[in-house]
Amino acid sequence: MVITVSHANRLRGTIHVPGDKSISHRGVIFGALAQGTTRLDNFLMADDCINTIRIFGQMGIDIDIKGHNTVVVQGKGIYGLSAPEVQLDAGNSGTTARLLMGLLTGQDFDSILTGDDSLKRRPMDRVVIPLRAMGAQLMGIENKEFLPMAVKGSRAKLQSIDYTMPVASAQVKSSLILASMYADKSSRIHQPAISRNHTEIMLETFGGRIHTNEKTITTYPEPTLYGQDLLIPGDISSAAYFITAALLTPDSEIVLKNVGINPTRSGILDVYKSMGASISIERIHSGGKEPSADIIVKGSPLKGTVVEGSLIPRLIDELPIIALAATQAEGTTLIKDAEELKVKESNRIDSTVGILKEFGANIEATPDGMIIEGPTVLFGTQHRPGSDHRMVMMATIAGLIAQGSTTIHDANWVNISYPGFFEQVEALRC
Ligand code: S3P
Repeated sequence: MVITVSHANRLRGTIHVPGDKSISHRGVIFGALAQGTTRLDNFLMADDCINTIRIFGQMGIDIDIKGHNTVVVQGKGIYGLSAPEVQLDAGNSGTTARLLMGLLTGQDFDSILTGDDSLKRRPMDRVVIPLRAMGAQLMGIENKEFLPMAVKGSRAKLQSIDYTMPVASAQVKSSLILASMYADKSSRIHQPAISRNHTEIMLETFGGRIHTNEKTITTYPEPTLYGQDLLIPGDISSAAYFITAALLTPDSEIVLKNVGINPTRSGILDVYKSMGASISIERIHSGGKEPSADIIVKGSPLKGTVVEGSLIPRLIDELPIIALAATQAEGTTLIKDAEELKVKESNRIDSTVGILKEFGANIEATPDGMIIEGPTVLFGTQHRPGSDHRMVMMATIAGLIAQGSTTIHDANWVNISYPGFFEQVEALRC
């Protein structure tokens, strides 16, 4: 699919962004491992999460999709999964692959996990190394530590782990939490910085025991989990595109309804506020452990900033769109400590810099981030952002800001996380 985006003079309106991707994946996983029925409302019906649903179906779990975005999972308990007859294909989804690796090591059956060409190139050693230390047997079939990977069910042999993670990754942490449910005794996981804590919250919500003390997590084996009814908040990583579009388009005002504002995810709001953005948070629902709120954003002049350190895991997926905002901010923006961007769906340091340079931005890559000088006028052009959904969406928002018209090839990659994205962008013009 090829789309054309033209410059926007003003953006106004109200948007319901789709459900949170990370929470949707985990809802299916914990729903499958629970006893009884789990109902997930506002589930993200996008390719990544549909892959997770399909995989659990292939392991004998009944999952019904009701209406547009409700998923009902008939859980079978932590020992209820059955051996798949096919390779489990996570598609483009790193979260599915890495979380599944931990879970599959705790089963009493063997399996093969695979993914699309992009996922086959992404590093799996970050989960393979600690899982092997627990006694798991994982073997890359074509290439040692990459997908496709054979996972030997090691239920009877899994040992607990006391592990210091070299990178702040929620996927690694979650994989180990899932494996540790099948270990012989309690495990401890030390994080270098706090990353999204949806797995910890969900395990507890489903009745499991888990303890977090600053950056250390203690987990306990053999939890009994009970099915839950969850309303999944809107995804702040999806909201980020509209927040940025409204900030950068003068005289704009948009309302984003029911967006998840879990502090481990809301770093972008802190960064934009420090850049001078007019953002207000209203109607906060903090009843559950995953708070949500309406976010009201007005077009604002921005100034450069520094994004670094423990902020990085709180906004890792938003860095490409923050870089776009920085091209319109007065002064220098420095993004540091963000080497993790290199191992996302694309090398997001190179792809962000490449795309924004094509638009005429003053941006340079550094070994661990980017330096952006602003403000610069952007000019629409032809783009091939490749197979990375977040780069397609960033280039689309750049097209709204840019002079002239922008053509984006392979735009269908948005379906990984945000079907309906282009229609919602167009609905805001006025
Ligand atoms: C995710 C964690 C992050 C993030 C990804 C989703 C998750 O990856 O980039 O989009 O749901 O756990 P890392 O854990 O590798 O940083």
